Amino acid sequence: MLRFLQWLARQERLLRLLRPLFGRFNPFLPEHRREPQTTWRALREAAPIYRSRAFGSFICTRYDDVLEVLRSPHFSADRSSVPVMRWISHMARGEPEFAGMLERNLLTTDGDDHRRLRGLVGKAFTPRRVEELRPRLEATVDELLDGIAERGETEIVRDLAHPFPVIAIAELLGVPAADRDRFRAWSTQLVRLLDPFQGRGGAPPLIRAAREIFAYFRPLLAERRANPGDDLLSAMIAAEQDGRRLDDVDLLALSSLLLVAGHETSSNLIGNSELLLRRFPDERKRLQDDLSLLPSAVDECLRYESPIQLTDRAVVEDCELAGQPLRRNQMVVAVLAAANRDPEHFPDPERFDVGRADNQHLALGQGNHFCLGSQLARLEAEVALGALLRRFPDFSGDPEPPAWRRSMVIRGPEAVPLKLA
Ligand code: HEM
Repeated sequence: MLRFLQWLARQERLLRLLRPLFGRFNPFLPEHRREPQTTWRALREAAPIYRSRAFGSFICTRYDDVLEVLRSPHFSADRSSVPVMRWISHMARGEPEFAGMLERNLLTTDGDDHRRLRGLVGKAFTPRRVEELRPRLEATVDELLDGIAERGETEIVRDLAHPFPVIAIAELLGVPAADRDRFRAWSTQLVRLLDPFQGRGGAPPLIRAAREIFAYFRPLLAERRANPGDDLLSAMIAAEQDGRRLDDVDLLALSSLLLVAGHETSSNLIGNSELLLRRFPDERKRLQDDLSLLPSAVDECLRYESPIQLTDRAVVEDCELAGQPLRRNQMVVAVLAAANRDPEHFPDPERFDVGRADNQHLALGQGNHFCLGSQLARLEAEVALGALLRRFPDFSGDPEPPAWRRSMVIRGPEAVPLKLA
């Protein structure tokens, strides 16, 4: 079934014929991939809580409603009742580690389970640990850019946006960055857990990637248990709260989640930021003249082209959202990217402003599931953009990439060719 849905998601002509079923929301069409904000604006203005028959979900696009979905206890991150997730779980039955990744994962638990996991990881993944990484991140970007400088032109996704966040998360976890091609292959598969309609081959490639990543982490965890180092894996093993620790299934699920979450999202932020600076040359000049604007510029890139466009929640008990009655177990899609351009919340939302003040965007989520890696994500983007602007002040290229990634959840370019002068 999943294989069929993945096939359907690529059949453009058929999808157009199925227009009555998709109505105002068809994220599989190429025009949505090119400019999702057209869909988000239309929904926000005409149907802010839109019932999608094709997806069996309510799509909500206004800032206040998205915020409520992310914060209110009426909505749960446990998606185990969603049919696609049930199929994937069913395919992986008898594999407790995979079940752990689906069910005992930060992103998919709530209440006490989530508090326990988040408390323990939070003890290991501290702001100090991230800030200490800064000099190593700067050296890594410099090395990557040295290679680029020799060639005179580059493709930023391949040469910087992809390798850099993988090296960063590998450094943090304390796993060899030399294995990064394998991490990339696994995370390309595992990120489909967020967006199962994309990709080919149904659930088996995803389950294979999970098995491989667990097989990779299992001996590393055993080794760190025996010989703790000054890395995040060792710190997660040692973390203790109320006499409880993370067990092996928790640790495998968390290590894999961090590898995927720390890679896919940040690399798209770097790619999107690069494109935005081309599209808005005056803002690029303003930033180039005053690099102290980097932190607010990164937040503006997150707001303007949000790398995670949307997330979803299950309704825990019958309730209302902006007057729309919702029933238990119905699904609500919270479109972060639509909220981030809501004129009711952001003055002049279509303006890309690298110095935007009070930028309360939702690109990193909100509430209990607020992005655990937000500080690392911002640091990586600041270091990468700062180095690009300093070292190649005259870079140029097309503001439209050759292709956008095929995903309704992730927004990012497939490639970003760049000339250095
Ligand atoms: C530009 C980069 C990033 C973006 C846009 C981003 C976005 C998000 C969003 C929107 C959520 C909330 C999802 C929800 O509520 O359903 C989230 C959660 C999370 N992020 Fe990030 N993220 C980024 C980078 C990172 C990095 C670098 C890491 C780790 C190394 C990371 C780890 C996580 C984790 C573990 C969660 C789950 C937190 C929880 O459920 O308690 N993220 N992220």
